[in-house]
Formats: sequence, structure tokens, C-alpha cells
Amino acid sequence: MTEPHAEPAPSHDGTQAAPTRSARLDGLIGAAGAGVLRMSSADVGVSREARRRTRWVKLTGAVWLLVAVLWLRAVTIDGGSFIPFPTIDPFLLTIIIFFGLLLALMAGQQLMSARSPHVVYRPEQITTTLDDVVGIDGVKDDVVRSLNLFLAHKTFRDEMGGTPRRGLLFEGAPGTGKTHLARAMAREAGVPFLFVSATSFQSMWYGASAKKIRSYFKALRKAARKEGGAIGFIEEIDAIAMSRGGVASSMTAHGSSAIVSGCHGTTCLPASYAAAAVSPAGGASSPGTQTNALMSEGTGGVVNELLVQLQSFDDPTGAQRLRGWFIDRINLFLAPDRQLQRPDVVPSNILLIAATNRADSLDPALLRPGRFDRRVTFDMPAKAGRRELVDHFLAKKAHTAELDDPAQRDVLAGVTQGYSPVMIEHLLDEALVNAVRRGESQLTWADVERARLVEEVGMGQPVGYTDHERRLIATHESGHATAAWLTAPHRRLEVLTIVKRRSALGMLAHGDREDVFTRSRTEMQALVQISLAGQCAEEIFFGDVSTGPGGDLLYATNAAAEMVGAHGMEGSLVSYAAIQTSSFSDTNIVGRVLADDRGRDAVEGLLQAQKREVKALLEANRHLVEALRDALLEREELVGPEITDVLEQAAARPRVLDLTESAVAPARSNVVLP
Ligand SMILES: Nc1ncnc2c1ncn2[C@@H]1O[C@H](COP(=O)(O)OP(=O)(O)OP(=O)(O)O)[C@@H](O)[C@H]1O
Ligand SMILES: [Mg+2]
Repeated sequence: MTEPHAEPAPSHDGTQAAPTRSARLDGLIGAAGAGVLRMSSADVGVSREARRRTRWVKLTGAVWLLVAVLWLRAVTIDGGSFIPFPTIDPFLLTIIIFFGLLLALMAGQQLMSARSPHVVYRPEQITTTLDDVVGIDGVKDDVVRSLNLFLAHKTFRDEMGGTPRRGLLFEGAPGTGKTHLARAMAREAGVPFLFVSATSFQSMWYGASAKKIRSYFKALRKAARKEGGAIGFIEEIDAIAMSRGGVASSMTAHGSSAIVSGCHGTTCLPASYAAAAVSPAGGASSPGTQTNALMSEGTGGVVNELLVQLQSFDDPTGAQRLRGWFIDRINLFLAPDRQLQRPDVVPSNILLIAATNRADSLDPALLRPGRFDRRVTFDMPAKAGRRELVDHFLAKKAHTAELDDPAQRDVLAGVTQGYSPVMIEHLLDEALVNAVRRGESQLTWADVERARLVEEVGMGQPVGYTDHERRLIATHESGHATAAWLTAPHRRLEVLTIVKRRSALGMLAHGDREDVFTRSRTEMQALVQISLAGQCAEEIFFGDVSTGPGGDLLYATNAAAEMVGAHGMEGSLVSYAAIQTSSFSDTNIVGRVLADDRGRDAVEGLLQAQKREVKALLEANRHLVEALRDALLEREELVGPEITDVLEQAAARPRVLDLTESAVAPARSNVVLP
């Protein structure tokens, strides 16, 4: 990391001059985009140094005082012992010790239940540096900016009049690096890192959670005063900060005059359909959140305590309060124009970071400026980020030379779309396990492929299908794969299998070739067709349908409902997402569309039309389905190019064309369109 020019200039006699305010301001401004400020020359380091000196002065004073007392005692000693001990009756002593222990036990219990559950890490105990955080550059830059403001807090406040950021909320899916980055920040900042898991604040004793929260913030303030600054980290804050009942769920957009048009891209596109069907909840207005709102009535006190404590960083210390109390007493005797001033309260320099997977369910009051005023969103890394992560993790894992090839690493970054950093790390670990299983000490590309297959579609379970079932499943899956190859040349066919994996008897796994954020109508239609093609193949080859396509229909219905009710792709431009208060506004978008007669009819019409189209396509290309089916019956599982090889060979083979069939499909040569 490059060092910004925040060092004070040396003076003429060779010693370092104390940094002036403007030099520090220069440092802060110069650090923009350059990296983390050097702690020793930033405000945090300067105040730490000042406190260290004060500590030495106090210690020296105390030692001198002790020496003086001992000296006085030595010169005035009159024949007794140097340190006189009082004589106590042993019976009385036993009673005193017994009751003393009893009291200590009771007090101890009280103190333990109110003890802060945090763990303090010193910067030198943390091994994670900012260089170990890769693939999330946007987030990293934002966080480094906040860190610099924390380090140069006085300069920012006194010279620029700003209010330093006090709270950062890290939100994002599991494994996206929230804790990892917070650790790296603590190391780079060079201040104590007070880590606490929100669940450890919970207690079975009434009021104990609030006490623990108070103790935690007290420890934070104390550490910050001692060391010039401290970073607090609350892991999974949603455990104690769920929205209280009756508090408005959004503090951001409403009331603002700006019109913000959110483009959702592919966030609600097919990949999430199955999950959405199982759990229609999502977002602040979801049924899940409402349940929490009701439950949180009992924990409202904890949220309130958190809200109060988040504003306690400017509170005076005990000594300052005592001094203030004395000054108040003295002022009672003084005329108004002679009143003494209470001492200035120096705010504690604290950066509090909270991490959560569910920022939308947090109490809105926590998210207002002055509390967690900066929300940092950790998304799944894009392809370039995944490539950096692959390089980062492979640097530590034994691998063969083929994985040093940049093109191969690019492929790995491409096929891990939707993976979080920890998933990529885990994938490579699983690949290493595969290598060990083979009796090798280095992982190969084949190990990675095998690990990915297991991660994405599960372990194969050998089950004994009847001959008819095997043929039926092979035909069904071949229908999907043929339709995908014909209608969606932009998709990558990954696995075609009739081996039972998880709950699927057979499956076609296919994905986007590149990271995509939007889809066209044609692409959406292709997705619907691919999922309906299995049933069509069954009808064409067996003249009947089985229970197999249940999951396919779920997927197709979800996709079609989104097209009809959210994306305006089927004639109507009405968005069902706009329905806010009605009997079916609590359901997800699919539920809203299907609950409306006209929406349901449009979905049905769309599905039937797509089915007719894809069935005609498969009928015209029976030879492709047959070729894949035979290959599947023989090999049971085809991976990546194996699928396309079979299709390409079958398409290239000369066949007698029915003259009633029309010409060749534009996307692929040698295939027949209906
Ligand atoms: N950007 C990254 N660069 C390198 N490694 C990463 C990155 N993000 C995550 N990791 C790896 O993934 C592991 C898990 O990440 P981390 O614990 O930070 O996830 P998280 O977002 O806090 O998840 P959760 O929400 O479940 O707490 C880290 O220990 C680290 O090894
Ligand atoms: Mg975490």
C-alpha cells in the first residue's frame, strides 16, 4: 500500500518538527485514493503519544510520593516494626472473612452478568492486512476513506468542520468478507479492536443485556481514551437490533424530493425463483420481518439501549464529571460574572462497525446519520474480482502448472459466477481434498471441476431406476439440453446427468457465459422454453407426461409471472410491484400476478405459447434429442463440452430432411427450426 505524504517535515536541526494542523490536513487530503494514513503522524498517534507521556509523569510522581512516605517513616521510626500490623482476634477475623467472601460472591455474580462479552485484539495479534482483502476494490476504497477520517478525526473536525463517521454498517450475504475486512482495518489503524458477537449480549436475566451493552460501550470509550482511538465490531447485529414494533420501516427514500429509479437488473431473475417459491419473504415489508417486529417488542429495551449508547461517545468521563460536580458546588458561592467554567468534554475517537446479513430488518433509528450513518454493501464479486480471488487463494494452495495458465484461471473466474469469496476458497479446498483422495499432493483442473459439480448439484447417489424410468429421465433431460443449445446459444451447458443428485432424478445445469445484469425478452422466453422442453420431449417420445416436470413448471411459472407482472414483457405495462395495500400485496410478485385473474391468464397464455414453440422445435430436431438420450443412457453423465460434442456431431451427421420442414436455425447450423 503506498504511503501518503502525511509525515511532518524534518526541522533544520535534524529533529522532526511537531506536525502542524495544516500539515495533517494536507496528509488527510493527500491520502484520498492513496491508502491508509500513517497512524504515528495522524491525530490518533499524536494523542496516543501525549497520553503516554502523561502516564510517565504520573508514574514518576507516584514513585516519588511513595519514596517520600517511606523515607519519612524511616526517619521517624521509634523501635516498632517498619510497617505496623494491627492485632485482630482470630474468631472475629474468621467471621469477617466469611461474610467478606459471601459479599464478594454476590457482587461477583452481579458484575459477571453485566460484564461486556467482548474480546480485545491488539493490532499486532491480527494477521489479516488490507492486502489480504481482494476482489472488492470499491468497498475497500470506501472503507479506507472512513479509516482515514477516523485516524485524522481532530483535523477533520477542527479544521474542516466535519463530523467524523462514527458507525459503519457492513451488510451483505454470508462469506462476502465483512469480518475479514473489519479485521484488516483494525490492523491497519493500529488501535485496539473490540470484537463482540451480538448474540453474546443476550441474557436470561431481565435487564442484563442492556447492562452488557453499556459495559461494552464503556470499554470502547476507555480503550479509545487510552490509545487515541478504538474500533468496535459487532458481528451479526440483527440479533439485538431488529426493528421495534411500530417504528417506520424506512428512513431513507420517503420524504425526499428526489425520484430514484431503481433498476433491479437480474436480482429477481430466474436463479432466485426456486428460493422465492419456498420463502416468499424478502425486504423490509416481508412477512418474515413483520414477525420479527412483533417479537422484538420484548427486546425493544435492548434496541433502545443500543440507540442511547451509540450517542455516548461524547459523554464526559467519571473524573470529568466529578470535576464538574465540584465546579458546580463552588459556583453556588460565586457571582454570575465570576462563575468557573466546566472542563471541556473531549469526545472519544471510536469507529463502530456492525455486520449483518439482514440490514433491512434493522431498526430504522439505528441507520440514521450520527449512528450507523454509512452503509457499506458487500456484493458477490464480479468476474474481475473473482479472478483476483482465484489468484489470491491459488497462491497458497498446491496446484499443477495447468492452473498457472491465465486463460485457465479466467475460465475458473467465469464459471464461479455468484460465488462469494469464501465459496471460492472452499471450492479450492474441496479440490485439494479430491487431489488427496487421488493420492496426489497438487490439485488439478479436473479436481476443481469435480468439486464444483458436487458444490452446485450435490453428490451423486446411486439409485436403481427401472429401464423405463432411465429412458424417460434421459429423454426428459435431453429435451432440456437440446432446447438450451438451440434457443440460448449465449448459455453455457455445464452438466447433463441422469444420476440422482439431491432431490433431482436427473438434471441439466446451465449458466450464463458472462456476468449479466439484465436479460432481454428473448432470453427470458428461452429460459421458459428450456424448462418446458423436458415435458415436451416426454410427450414427443412417450406420448404421455410424468410427474418429473413439477420443478420445471415451478421455474417456468415464476419466470413467466415476472415477465408479465414486473417487466412489462407481455403487453401489459402494469407492474404488480406497485400494489402496496391490498389483500395480496403481502405476497411476492409471482403471488400477486397469479392472484389476479388477468395476470394468471396472461401467464398461462405465455406458458402455452412457449410450450407450443419449443415442442415444434424439438419435433423438428428429434435426432438431436435421440443422440443426447443415447449418450446419456450409455455414460449417465456428460460434463461441459461433452454435451455440445454430442449435439454438434449429431447436427453434422447427414440426415434425410423432411421437405415440409423449414430452413436452418440462425443461431446454429445444421439444426432444423419448425
Ligand atoms: N475479499 C476477500 N479477500 C480474501 N478473502 C476473503 C475475502 N472475503 C472473504 N474472504 C475469506 O472468506 C472468509 C470468510 O469471510 P468473512 O468471515 O469475512 O465473511 P462474512 O461476510 O463476515 O460472513 P458472515 O456474514 O457469515 O459473518 C474469510 O476468513 C476469508 O478467508
Ligand atoms: Mg462475519
